Amino acid sequence: MFPANFLWGAATSAYQIEGDPLAAGAGASIWHQFAHQPGRIANGDTGDVACGHYRRWAEDVALMAELGLTAYRFSVAWGRVMPNGSGAVNQAGLDFYRRLIDALCERGITPMLTLYHWDLPQALQERGGWQHPDSPAWFADYAEVLIRAVDDRVPLWITLNEPWVVTVPGHLEGIHAPGLQNRAATPRVAHHLLLAHAAAVTVYRALGRHQIGLAVNLEPQFPVSASAADQAAAHRRDAFINRWFLDPLLLGSYPPELREIFGADWPDFPANELARIHGIPDFIGVNYYSRGLVQADTTEQPLGARRVKPQDAPCTTMGWEVYPAGLTETLLGLRERYGNVPLYITENGAAFIDADLQAGVINDAARVNYLETHLRAAQMALAQGVDLRGYFVWSLFDNFEWAEGYAQRFGLIQIDPLNGRRTFKRSAHWYREFIQSEINR
Ligand code: FCB
Repeated sequence: MFPANFLWGAATSAYQIEGDPLAAGAGASIWHQFAHQPGRIANGDTGDVACGHYRRWAEDVALMAELGLTAYRFSVAWGRVMPNGSGAVNQAGLDFYRRLIDALCERGITPMLTLYHWDLPQALQERGGWQHPDSPAWFADYAEVLIRAVDDRVPLWITLNEPWVVTVPGHLEGIHAPGLQNRAATPRVAHHLLLAHAAAVTVYRALGRHQIGLAVNLEPQFPVSASAADQAAAHRRDAFINRWFLDPLLLGSYPPELREIFGADWPDFPANELARIHGIPDFIGVNYYSRGLVQADTTEQPLGARRVKPQDAPCTTMGWEVYPAGLTETLLGLRERYGNVPLYITENGAAFIDADLQAGVINDAARVNYLETHLRAAQMALAQGVDLRGYFVWSLFDNFEWAEGYAQRFGLIQIDPLNGRRTFKRSAHWYREFIQSEINR
């Protein structure tokens, strides 16, 4: 069904699973800071313990091998490697990731390394964070440290995970770290993220020997009705979510809708900066969860649109509609708009309330169904010639789901909150068998 060299993976990120965020000389991240502010995270949860992966990484790599993964996507905590975000390198932090990567390679699991999955060092936030024009250079210096240290064993690199989420929930809505609601700053944050990506790619082209790309969250947008207002709203939301980052990267200019959306807050970005951003990555990572059903709503600013929950459609506990056809559409749509760039599905998965452990089994049938139908949707895009090279389930573990804390559970593997014990859910067993049957075909 899938190509012979297709990668079968699962994904995680540092702050969501590691715990011990300040261990061995690490500098605090904006997520550590944010999670410790009262009222920011559901149930007052933090990433202080998370899945305890910082301590249990060896056991976790053994679990990945048991699961039959051929690839693993993880992120590096910038502040473990550079506690102040720039300048001095903390060898102990680097060594943690070296050991992890060595263990993966020993098990024949291909590492896919994300440099930035939202945990900016707090020290850099205090200098202005992604609003600062030097932020792309800070990121490039950090990238260089990692590339020099581990490129010999890491064949797949991702600069940024979901720059849109950093931009909008982080700097416009204030529901993610750093918790800002600064509409005027938002377009520049996005621009600096794109320049940071480009600067890291430039370093990689000079020093790295493998492949580098970025991961974006994509969801096809549908108007809730046939009215002209709802159709226009869906179109604006498509520019806002799906094209804000990919258009400048792959086509060389921002979607014109962004200027309409942000009005006077949209700056005139210099042509030389847009030229620097414009460049084809080695691959695009697609994070796909659902579609957007969009209704015009002038009270929702700046977009003039909001996402509505569909009536009578299956949804996950995040309130996201289960809509596998949107994955096929997203993959085909990418090729149509941007050409045949190699793709990985770098995240796909679902949060559900899992049934209790019964006779040794957590029967998460809804998750199995989600994964099965989405894999079929991916296969439909492959059958139409899309250059899709791998699939990563979000997530390997139940983990710290950002503002939702531990309440939303995406894992193939359950983590006992009391003692950290790991238990395969039925979806993990199912995925292992699926991978086996693909590999042995
Ligand atoms: C994505 C994030 C990932 C996880 C999933 C559910 O936006 O990249 O860390 O939170 O959503």
